[in-house]
Amino acid sequence: MKNRILYFLKEERGTYVSGEEISNRLGISRAGVWKHINSLREEGYEIDSKSRLGYMLIGEPDLLLPSQVSYGLSTEVIGKVIHHSMEMVSTNREARALADEGKPEGTVVVTERQTDGKGRLGRTWLSPPGGIWLSVILRPGFQPLHAPKLTLVAAVAVAKTLREEAHLDTKIKWPNDVYIGSRKICGILTEMSAELDRINYVVLGIGVNANVDVAPFPPEIRDRATSIMMELGKPISRVALLRALLTQFERTYFLFLREGFEPIRQEIKADSYTLGRWVKVRHGKKDIEGEAVDIDKDGALLVRTIEGRMVTIVSGDVGEEQKTSTIYNA
Ligand code: BTN
Repeated sequence: MKNRILYFLKEERGTYVSGEEISNRLGISRAGVWKHINSLREEGYEIDSKSRLGYMLIGEPDLLLPSQVSYGLSTEVIGKVIHHSMEMVSTNREARALADEGKPEGTVVVTERQTDGKGRLGRTWLSPPGGIWLSVILRPGFQPLHAPKLTLVAAVAVAKTLREEAHLDTKIKWPNDVYIGSRKICGILTEMSAELDRINYVVLGIGVNANVDVAPFPPEIRDRATSIMMELGKPISRVALLRALLTQFERTYFLFLREGFEPIRQEIKADSYTLGRWVKVRHGKKDIEGEAVDIDKDGALLVRTIEGRMVTIVSGDVGEEQKTSTIYNA
């Protein structure tokens, strides 16, 4: 009901709407209207009230509140339910707990800052306010061995969203980063709970440096990171961006479920940061050097070594993402 009142005020923005009108339109008592208006104010909405005129929405918080993100979101599954709080240890951790409780496919977990954001290979992911730190619960019906492809599905969706919404020239660095020039703007961490032949759930964690200033980050991260705000020279509407990302992710995910990996593979190849580069890849315990020449039908990276040997670098194993391979620019 709170959201219905909010959406009503949004539609009537610029005019006062009387408590009586809200109460008649939505079928709740005047006292109920007042209670929900106060609760919206506590969330950070500025709602002016004038006796005899009623209520007018005059300001909205710059927070990824479900009430904000859901407004105008027309997805079928992704983001139908959104869990938000001001601070979380890690949205992936929270999403896994919710998935263990049985929360459905498409459930989104988002926060303003993470106190212990998880990166790949046990690294920490710095997650100050201003970023978009989110996780999506998926319950695909396919075999666990296909799960690593979801990382690439997400990378395609992020790259496209940043291109369309922020006009940034995004590239996909295999397998899970989105780059602008030679700097990382987004990282993806895919985690899975599965049995041998059945996925219980996948948690897809996406971290987008939206309105983040990377200057205070440690030099080894700062020098290789960027953000939308830094690229554009001004902040972006995170709410609109998250809405666009959820919409784009659903489109790309449904395409993958419907038509398989080939269309995704084509998009990755077209927007690849990695292909054509000389790379050094950790393969098991060895380092392999060569040219990244292709992405195969399973999403693996094909590297041609100096001796002309083709090496297939596959994604990480069940449970954790990309444990077996790391790629470096030479
Ligand atoms: C990487 O590049 O190492 C992956 C980074 C993934 C970060 C995101 S932020 C939202 C989600 N929650 C986490 O704890 N990690 C992922």
